[in-house]
Amino acid sequence: MNKINIGLCGLGTVGTGVVKILREHQEELFHQTGCSLEVKKILVNNIEKERELQIAEDVLTTDVTDIVNDDSIDVVIEVMGGLKSAYELVGEALKNGKHVVTANKDMLAEYGSEIFHLASKHNRDIFYEASVAGGIPIIRTLKEGLIADRINQLMGIVNGTTNYILTKMDEEERQFDDVLKEAQELGFAEADPSADIDGLDAARKIALMSTLSFSMPIDLKDVDVKGIRNIELEDLKLAKQLGYTMKLLGFANRHNGRVEVSVEPVLLQSDHPLTSVKNEYNAVYVYSDAVGETMFYGPGAGSLPTASAVVSDLIGVVKNISLGTTGKSYVKPLYEKELQTDEEMFGKYFFRLEVDDIAGTFLEITNIYTNADISFAKISQVPDQSKGTAEIILVTHQASKAKIHSVIQQITDLPAVRNLKSVYRVEEGE
Ligand SMILES: NC(=O)c1ccc[n+]([C@@H]2O[C@H](COP(=O)([O-])OP(=O)(O)OC[C@H]3O[C@@H](n4cnc5c(N)ncnc54)[C@H](OP(=O)(O)O)[C@@H]3O)[C@@H](O)[C@H]2O)c1
Repeated sequence: MNKINIGLCGLGTVGTGVVKILREHQEELFHQTGCSLEVKKILVNNIEKERELQIAEDVLTTDVTDIVNDDSIDVVIEVMGGLKSAYELVGEALKNGKHVVTANKDMLAEYGSEIFHLASKHNRDIFYEASVAGGIPIIRTLKEGLIADRINQLMGIVNGTTNYILTKMDEEERQFDDVLKEAQELGFAEADPSADIDGLDAARKIALMSTLSFSMPIDLKDVDVKGIRNIELEDLKLAKQLGYTMKLLGFANRHNGRVEVSVEPVLLQSDHPLTSVKNEYNAVYVYSDAVGETMFYGPGAGSLPTASAVVSDLIGVVKNISLGTTGKSYVKPLYEKELQTDEEMFGKYFFRLEVDDIAGTFLEITNIYTNADISFAKISQVPDQSKGTAEIILVTHQASKAKIHSVIQQITDLPAVRNLKSVYRVEEGE
């Protein structure tokens, strides 16, 4: 084998980066693989579109069959995005004997099990490093680097848009809407930012990472998702006064063989390494039995960082082809899915309440926690005489999610409570 033919599907941000890396790193890639890597066809939507790169006319196509039905194409790189069309393309490619590299976490979250099954059935490789945290090689780390260890917890800042928004709100004391608008103008946020700010994008990534970390089939629907749409600047300011920084975290934890997976805004103690991850950067913090704590940090998106992950996957496929070991990239999870119940999930929580400033209210509220066996790490009450109200801020010690839900219900039912403004999980490290 002295040449590998590639069918590249998509020539946008990532696809353009892939072509650049293949061209500019040609010598090193040849040295690593012992063969030349040729982009034979590129699938796009609009063939007339002006492109940043010079591409030979007969290479561009709008016809997917030019790629999936071309017997000379060995590897399909899917960097076009979308759900059903991408799934159908990848499915056809695998059935027709091609290996696949994809950056598409949306498709994997929706159709991952079908795709992995097809790859195994047809003895083909499927790699997806770029689908989580762009340029950070976290998938390979979980599949290979830490494979001998047992991972018990993951915390990831895996969405650049929301990290950018929270960083700017925190550092420049600006409101959510204002920063979101700026992020859209700078191209860090989509015109429709819902998938990012409502936590869905991070949920897709934490589902993929927890499946690998715990060797358990975790789906998107298993992830408890809360986004940052309703975060107020005041929440961040109060959190800061208490020594916390807010981050949207993908969180996955295994205890006694049972797993909890969530995406939510979390208050991290300000000396936690993840609080140093700012703006559009990503990081994944891993707790494992043997190695202990490790953190993987870098750009979570962008043309060349993401393309670098895609081309690394391509090299992995090519090496497998030359060793005759393709079709083993997907390993079926060892364990059946076991999710923790609300009684089994424990955390510390921050509460912010606006209450009538009348005698007995504070006691009424603290009694609810005491009766639920929840004690306090921090508590403060600040009256606002102009409104006749007081703001109560409290941070609990460890309590089960079930008890926290019950407390929330009882507090909301109290006539003296005008508004339960916010409740956040708190992470202080071990
Ligand atoms: N951008 C990042 O930093 C990043 C990071 C990690 C993962 N990803 C993932 O990588 C994938 C690609 O993202 P991107 O930012 O490169 O997207 P993009 O800039 O919008 O580019 C998409 C490309 O695919 C082509 N395309 C889209 N739908 C098509 C269809 N149905 N048939 C044929 N061609 C089609 C487009 O053609 P035209 O050029 O003719 O419009 C374009 O070239 C997505 O799954 C994304 O989630 C992106």
